[in-house]
Amino acid sequence: MVRLSDGARSKEGRCVRDVLEYRPHMGINSEGHLTMGGADLVELAERYGTPLYVYDEQRIRERYREFRRAFSSYSPLDVYYACKANSALAVLRVLREEGAGADIVSEGELFLALRAGFEGERIIFTGNCKTDRELEAAVEAGVTVNLDSLDEVERLARIAGERGEEVRVCFRVNPEVSPETHPHLATGLRESKFGLHENLVVEGYRRALECEHFRVAGIHMHIGSQITSTSPFLAAAARLFDIAGRLKRELGLELEFADLGGGIGIRYTPEQRYITPVQLAEEMLPLIERKLEEHDLGRMRLIFEPGRYIVGDAGVLLTRVHTVKQTPFRFFAGCDAGFNLLLRPAMYGAHHEVVVANRAGAPPEKVVSFAGNLCESGDLLARDRHVPEVRRGDVIAVLDAGAYGFAMSSQYNSRPRCAEVMVSSGRAEVIRQAESLEDLLDKQRLPSWFE
Ligand SMILES: Cc1ncc(COP(=O)(O)O)c(C=O)c1O
Repeated sequence: MVRLSDGARSKEGRCVRDVLEYRPHMGINSEGHLTMGGADLVELAERYGTPLYVYDEQRIRERYREFRRAFSSYSPLDVYYACKANSALAVLRVLREEGAGADIVSEGELFLALRAGFEGERIIFTGNCKTDRELEAAVEAGVTVNLDSLDEVERLARIAGERGEEVRVCFRVNPEVSPETHPHLATGLRESKFGLHENLVVEGYRRALECEHFRVAGIHMHIGSQITSTSPFLAAAARLFDIAGRLKRELGLELEFADLGGGIGIRYTPEQRYITPVQLAEEMLPLIERKLEEHDLGRMRLIFEPGRYIVGDAGVLLTRVHTVKQTPFRFFAGCDAGFNLLLRPAMYGAHHEVVVANRAGAPPEKVVSFAGNLCESGDLLARDRHVPEVRRGDVIAVLDAGAYGFAMSSQYNSRPRCAEVMVSSGRAEVIRQAESLEDLLDKQRLPSWFE
């Protein structure tokens, strides 16, 4: 007898069609297999093996365009894709082709963004602890450096001075707004490590204006991720433009751009609250227009940095069931992917819908928990889900894994990372090969005294 948790009961009766309803790039084919971007996901699992990440190129393009279109009544405006969400070269390339800029957080992301073809002047480098080496690379590439502390002003001024190069800078300010999301995903709280708090903002800009090699160009915020209501965005935007007004009044500073960060959430479950970019734009743009006028800020360029919204539902993680087990409390399906490949359930208690991809059309008849293969009790991909009968050999699709999925992967438990595949109008190609056992030895050596 399977006992249902409350969570499981509340979702009783939901079928795969409810889950697919607002994922128009996915479907079920005549064989009852789950499809994405016209590709049969069960067939991809057979062809490339599991575990496997699959991304739908057209869906990424659609989501980017949808976001861009929602804000099209304001100009000038740019969308800088947050590369941290998914930094696969092919994904970056798709977004560069679409006309996006790039929001980066490391020298590695800078390297990848440049390799994907993003130009330095359309890249912004954010981070609370950039190394001197990263600042040097940023200056060399001509990207905008998003300063996070007074200390960083000094370091960057020295580096730009030594190189004799002008660097475009802005500050990330901490608007002290709660984004009503998981605590680990909130970045604009008073106690957060990110950004300059308002008491230091004027001093920060004053010092930056004194730096001969700086072009002080903008102001930035990012309040968190997976935000599902407009109010935190509105409160933070109002704060940001009030600060820009204060900078104008107190320092005579006319900023070129305001970067409002990313953070718009996606619908991980049909029941979950969500907002659309259109809703956000409809509420945010009039507020911004009012604030620009109130503080006489002129027509500042607006930048948004969505990550999850663009790539989140364009990716699935395919994993195969290798073993099933009935315990006194749960029925477990043991899968060949764990939090080494998708950390979000273990790290944030995040919910990802799971679909038995090879019987996607079958009605739910059992409550199953999908266990990862790592030696950690917290390694559950999904808990107490109403799904069709699950058997050994079944292919499970973990949905909405395109953002912060592979990007957060590791080799924990010495498991090589899996391959990534991109599909486009029915075609499929590997965009990253699976790591091999030999790759576990990569860069390792024994100390000389063992030789
Ligand atoms: C500075 C910055 N911009 C943008 C993003 C993207 O956020 P999201 O993927 O929620 O849109 C992040 C995510 O952490 C971030 O730190």
